[in-house]
Amino acid sequence: MPVTVRDVRAFKERGERFTMLTAYEAQSARLLDEAGIPLILVGDTLGMVVLGYDSTLPVTMDEMLHHTRAVARGATNALVVGDMPFMSYQSSIEEGLRNAGRFLKEAGAHAVKLEGGARVVDLVARITEAGIPVMGHIGLTPQSVNQFGGYRVQGRSDEQAHQIVADAKSLEAAGAFAVVLEAVPAPVAAEVTRTLHVPTIGIGAGPDCDGQVLVWHDFLGISDGKLPRFVKRYAEVGEQIKQAASAFAAEVADGTYPGPEHTYT
Ligand code: KIV
Repeated sequence: MPVTVRDVRAFKERGERFTMLTAYEAQSARLLDEAGIPLILVGDTLGMVVLGYDSTLPVTMDEMLHHTRAVARGATNALVVGDMPFMSYQSSIEEGLRNAGRFLKEAGAHAVKLEGGARVVDLVARITEAGIPVMGHIGLTPQSVNQFGGYRVQGRSDEQAHQIVADAKSLEAAGAFAVVLEAVPAPVAAEVTRTLHVPTIGIGAGPDCDGQVLVWHDFLGISDGKLPRFVKRYAEVGEQIKQAASAFAAEVADGTYPGPEHTYT
């Protein structure tokens, strides 16, 4: 049975911890689906891990819709969440509502995610009223990297921590069905998780969130460079790809590939 937002709420009611992973195309969505991952996020991390931008800011609606369509074609059970890119919802409620609708109408997503607390609650309410489930995202919101002055843990001061709890409550009141907490101290995430009736999904937010999310290239060991502390690599696919490519090159060079079994007679 396909996962719905009711199932996501029920995970929390039953105290069942759950997972979300990002995907950007059909085959990886199919694999996550077959692994039983209930939520697939087509994150705007697309810009960095797939398209080679150095932040999520350049990502466009067209790019997000293109990749969300591919994911929706690959996933049959998971709830597919489309991430609203920078400036697709910041300038007006009407534009935000129209773009949220495009994820469902044109790309086959089941829900959208957008970043921000108090400043987006009116929009969240409008999108939800239109029948589009919304996932909130607070703490370190990468679309505001320039305002934060870098990718920094949020909520370390009492004032910031209170703001995060207040933002989470406002998002829930506006109708969000879940809230992502990114890079916040574990005690703050625990407090938000205790306070909300809808589930929290943590990324760098400690063990007490209702769910956890990781990015495809990070959890598979494809990303390089210095990774945030919260990333756990569950495989070393990047190394395997390099070994496979070298093996292919070597076999072509020495004439081992293609062999008779790969050749039409
Ligand atoms: O864009 C993304 O992949 C995200 C996750 C890091 C939560 O927002």
